Amino acid sequence: MGKGQVNVLMLLLFLTLCSASDQKWRKAMISAEKATSLVMNRVGSSILFPIHGNVYPTGYYNVTIKIGQPPKPYFLDLDTGSDLTWLQCDAPCVHCVEAPHPFYQPSNDLVACRDPLCAALHPPGDYKCESPEQCDYEVEYADGGSSLGVLVRDVFSLNYTNGIQLSPRLALGCGYDQIPGASRHPLDGILGLGRGKSGIVSQLQSQGLVRNVVGHCLSGKGGGFLFFGDGLYDSSRVTWTSMSQEFTKYYSPGIAELHFGGKATGIKNLIVVFDSGSSYTYLNSQAYQTLTVLLKKELGGRSLKEAPEDQTLPLCWKGRKPFKNVKDVKKYFKTIALAFASSGRTKTQFELHPEAYLIISNKGNVCLGILNGTQVGLQNLNVIGDISMQDRMVIYDNEKQVIGWTPANCDQLPRSITANM
Ligand SMILES: *[C@@H]1O[C@H](CO)[C@@H](O)[C@H](O)[C@H]1NC(C)=O
Ligand SMILES: *[C@@H]1O[C@H](CO)[C@@H](O)[C@H](O)[C@H]1NC(C)=O
Ligand SMILES: *[C@@H]1O[C@H](CO)[C@@H](O)[C@H](O)[C@H]1NC(C)=O
Repeated sequence: MGKGQVNVLMLLLFLTLCSASDQKWRKAMISAEKATSLVMNRVGSSILFPIHGNVYPTGYYNVTIKIGQPPKPYFLDLDTGSDLTWLQCDAPCVHCVEAPHPFYQPSNDLVACRDPLCAALHPPGDYKCESPEQCDYEVEYADGGSSLGVLVRDVFSLNYTNGIQLSPRLALGCGYDQIPGASRHPLDGILGLGRGKSGIVSQLQSQGLVRNVVGHCLSGKGGGFLFFGDGLYDSSRVTWTSMSQEFTKYYSPGIAELHFGGKATGIKNLIVVFDSGSSYTYLNSQAYQTLTVLLKKELGGRSLKEAPEDQTLPLCWKGRKPFKNVKDVKKYFKTIALAFASSGRTKTQFELHPEAYLIISNKGNVCLGILNGTQVGLQNLNVIGDISMQDRMVIYDNEKQVIGWTPANCDQLPRSITANM
């Protein structure tokens, strides 16, 4: 399919949007001031999704996205650590793993090899097309999993928070050869929310449909929400730190220092990335070592004893009787923080209260949800995973190149701040 058709589709879409908001405008009889914000609302609009899942025992959060014509639902793992969205695909499938829905039937709208979206998925100068009409991709994840396939375009059925529907054609991977990773999630695919051009929000932005901003709110009780666009939070209440211009592959605020109980530990130069695709938080071997020594020192002489028999995570402790909630053990644990040396001399701290780094295992022990990244091959990357992002909004603003966070009630879907409908 040629470029012309895509443009026509976009044009139709915009006409639909305009007439729909005109109708509402007439019905609502609102002030001139509000009418202006209504017209402006398309760029200020956000797309909101409820999500399901938890850190433990499930180990991931999933979002339902409708793709194809007619639209079919798929359960996708939300991943701010990678760009490409892909589905297990009946192309036919050479190697797929069991999924909640029938495998995706690819559209015949192939992304061409010379398309910038194809180039974005390959290291510069390192990609030779087998055929000019087709873009092959392969993505590998830190847990050893991978997906190999072909890039296609298909319709995504989405809704703005004001109820207006949109159905853009976006590029996605038709994954016909998957190797499951260590964290085998029984899902239909991955929703790539990364910084790159092929990311879903970047594609929506380049079609003028939403600002290139992604946010999530993962509830400690399970569930929460995901959003695209900048209409659902009050920016003045958010702690912002600039995205690194050095480590551009991931959402990274750059280099941090590890703090424990309000004091610097002397562990500096940690390259930190935010990754919703990781359930736990990872520190490099040196930082992990320092942290575990400090934690054990704090616990010395307390009623908690190490419980090596509990294999839930590498480091667990048991009490006199089983724990039900992290609140039961909170008093034994200090706040950990990562202090970013961003914006000049002022340090922004990302704090981890006990709830942001501990879980209660099904045996009633408390386990450390910060793991040794060196052991899983992360080399020097330190990863802030889901456990440490719970019960706050984490916002990746690719327009302003900043990452922000603010405490939030993730159990309740937010209302539009620009509340004009
Ligand atoms: C994914 O989320 C849906 C709700 O949107 C839920 O019904 C489903 O059980 C979840 N799937 C998995 C595999 O966790
Ligand atoms: C969008 O809203 C319509 C009308 O309320 C609803 O039928 C549809 O399921 C929604 N689509 C998505 C993807 O949520
Ligand atoms: C972390 O993992 C590395 C690589 O397996 C290992 O050499 C190191 O001893 C581990 N560090 C700690 C503190 O367990």
